[in-house]
Amino acid sequence: MDIKIIDDASKAKCDVLIINKFENKQTSSELVNRFAPENFEGKQGQIFVIHTHDQLPAQRILAVGFGEEKDIDNNIVRENIAKAIKKCLAMKVKTVAIDLKTHFNYGGPALLGASIANYHFDKYKTKKEHRIEELYLANVDNELVERAKVVAESLKFARNLANEPAAFATPSKLAQIAQNIEGIQTEVFDEEKIKTLGMGAFLAVAKGSNETPKFIHMKYSCPNPRKKIAIIGKGLCFDSGGLDIKPASSMLTMKDDMSGSACILGVMKALNKLKPEIEVHGIIAACENMPSGSAYKPGDILTAMNGKTIEVDNTDAEGRLTLADALCYACKLDVEEVIDIATLTGACMVALGTVASGIMGNNDEFVSSIIKYGKESGEKYWQLPMWQEYRDNMDSDVADMKNTGTRYGGASAAGMFLKEFVTDNVKWAHLDIAGTAFLEKGQREFGKGATGAGVRTLIKYIID
Ligand code: BES
Ligand code: MN
Ligand code: ZN
Repeated sequence: MDIKIIDDASKAKCDVLIINKFENKQTSSELVNRFAPENFEGKQGQIFVIHTHDQLPAQRILAVGFGEEKDIDNNIVRENIAKAIKKCLAMKVKTVAIDLKTHFNYGGPALLGASIANYHFDKYKTKKEHRIEELYLANVDNELVERAKVVAESLKFARNLANEPAAFATPSKLAQIAQNIEGIQTEVFDEEKIKTLGMGAFLAVAKGSNETPKFIHMKYSCPNPRKKIAIIGKGLCFDSGGLDIKPASSMLTMKDDMSGSACILGVMKALNKLKPEIEVHGIIAACENMPSGSAYKPGDILTAMNGKTIEVDNTDAEGRLTLADALCYACKLDVEEVIDIATLTGACMVALGTVASGIMGNNDEFVSSIIKYGKESGEKYWQLPMWQEYRDNMDSDVADMKNTGTRYGGASAAGMFLKEFVTDNVKWAHLDIAGTAFLEKGQREFGKGATGAGVRTLIKYIID
């Protein structure tokens, strides 16, 4: 979708011109008064389409209700524009203009809503889906739209990567992608180097697969960084469960178990364009979890990079093992804050559904700030507890800990496990996107498939 900023939407030659109307307000736009019928009240989500019969260069007007003007925010604009764009897609039109009149500072969410709704993963379809090809935005703040363009690009990139089958998005492929991101320095460690670094937990997970593991360290730097942070993404290119193999139905979507790393790659891609004044390390421990003669086994005892030992209770609790070493590595980088993002537990999905991601950490203020950035960018987080009892359940008779506890409270248990690998003086937050990363049916502005969970929140956190 080509995006252009224009001055006057009433002069735009396009298939559909989208305008908004507020409830209980006479004029949102003179065009509403001219074209919409009197009974179009502008209630939240209400849509009205009419032919202009050549009274305007635009062929049709689509008016969308925004509800009460006092309630307007980014989420309302993004979702209503997405709804309008879906209607345009159903009408099979190609060029669309949007004019929000006086609300010029909502160009960003309007663009995002349009871009999210216009997305389809149809790379492997011989017959491509219909798409809006050109989008004109009138009366918008240039700078905010430019920033939203970058966010929309990263989001699309992350969704594409997570939608790719495991045969395409291999650990080596993720490494190659990381190495090609403009303005980012990337180091990739192979199996030999990973061994030397003492990442025994990560290596164990990778053992059963023919795909060789890659530890990816990306760095965005600037002259005088105000802060140094690290962001880590779970990079399980496929999670079969390992020897504790998953049932077929649970394995179906496990190509998405690298959604956390797709998010990190998307965010790193945005940084060179947005140029924040902080140093950002992007870290991915990429591998596959497969059953085979060389696979790690229940009962194995692993040593992580910080020297702590782990008894393997279940080979399907593999994400936390890869993250354990990634967290140890990140904490050695002289960073103030570390965030990891992972499709970590089915338990989190059971608790919060596909609606919200779980969030935990070692500093409530830090966790709250991320929840806030999420809210502002349209992503929901719900804080889960970090109580000692969850950790007690993971005590092992033969090692420092087991990699799982009881069946219950699994998201918090996983959080407590990760905490063992975080240095105390580092602020740390863990985002569990198991439920939110991949949709089996559409939800709000999103269609089926990968959502790019975390991209918007992390970019907002880094920029703001
Ligand atoms: N990748 C899965 C978690 C997951 C489940 C993500 C559903 C997305 C949708 C993770 O590696 C896993 O298998 N977790 C186990 C942990 C258990 C063995 C303690 C789970 O949640 O069942
Ligand atoms: Mn698993
Ligand atoms: Zn997994």
